[in-house]
Amino acid sequence: MSDTDWSGWLDLVESQLHAGEDQRSRMLLGQIRDRVLHKAGLRRGDILVDLGCGRGLVALEAARIVGPEGRVIGVDLSEGALDRAKAEARRRGLENLEFIRSDIRALPLDDGTADAVTGRSVFAYVADRKTALAEAYRVLKPGGRVSLFEPVLREESYQMDWGEAEAAWRRMRLVLESVHPAYGFGLGQLKEVLESVGFTDLETFVWHADTSRMYATLEEARQDLGELLPGELAPSEAWRKAGISEEEVAMVTERLWRESARPGFRNSIPCVYAWGRKPL
Ligand SMILES: C[S@@+](CC[C@H](N)C(=O)[O-])C[C@H]1O[C@@H](n2cnc3c(N)ncnc32)[C@H](O)[C@@H]1O
Repeated sequence: MSDTDWSGWLDLVESQLHAGEDQRSRMLLGQIRDRVLHKAGLRRGDILVDLGCGRGLVALEAARIVGPEGRVIGVDLSEGALDRAKAEARRRGLENLEFIRSDIRALPLDDGTADAVTGRSVFAYVADRKTALAEAYRVLKPGGRVSLFEPVLREESYQMDWGEAEAAWRRMRLVLESVHPAYGFGLGQLKEVLESVGFTDLETFVWHADTSRMYATLEEARQDLGELLPGELAPSEAWRKAGISEEEVAMVTERLWRESARPGFRNSIPCVYAWGRKPL
């Protein structure tokens, strides 16, 4: 089991989204959720398994769509996130929703359980995503649908001049691309893995999320760069283990902080929607 504290990280994201300034991100999350559900072709009465459900962003809405004659099963490793999802399900009076604490690489579900499987921002962070997607395939009924949304951090792009920090930045990116599950995960790989485990009729759509922001403080830039992901997945952890010096990280961070205030500064992350089906 991973000891990455996704629950605390999701709390942080939630508090930022509810800080009032981030209406845009909240709306975007809703749009992503709705598109994932739409591409899953969800209908009343369906059984849906939402993998890496977190606090239930997708699962809670899915429960409303499938209605009382359907069922939604959210699966996640994080107890804290599942507690939040369960509390929200109770608050909404949803009784067709259950949450299971499990690793998505070994699902405690029978073969052919589900009409559809979804995942939002989950598989990018799982190192052996082929095992996890093979499990998704196994628990689907023949003809069942899969619908995913994943960030492609490897293709993250910064439109800025790194100046004297350029060489250090290149080394830091190289470290991430070679050791980090999410930063090593390139565009096109999701479709390849889905194909390799047996899914057919696959389609993908790439959307570039504009994640540009002007950092008010050096600390904000440091957090965004080095602590973008929780626990062992934090880029700063990878840099530390690879022997990148604190001075190099500090130089890169300071450059990012200063450049983020310039007109024309842009930071974006491609995100891929992928959907398909298990053959009949
Ligand atoms: C970025 S969050 C996304 C949560 C949710 N899908 C959403 O859209 O808000 C990633 C989630 O994947 C879960 N996760 C990561 N690796 C996992 C694994 N191997 N098995 C089960 N859950 C996992 C984490 O606990 C976390 O809740």
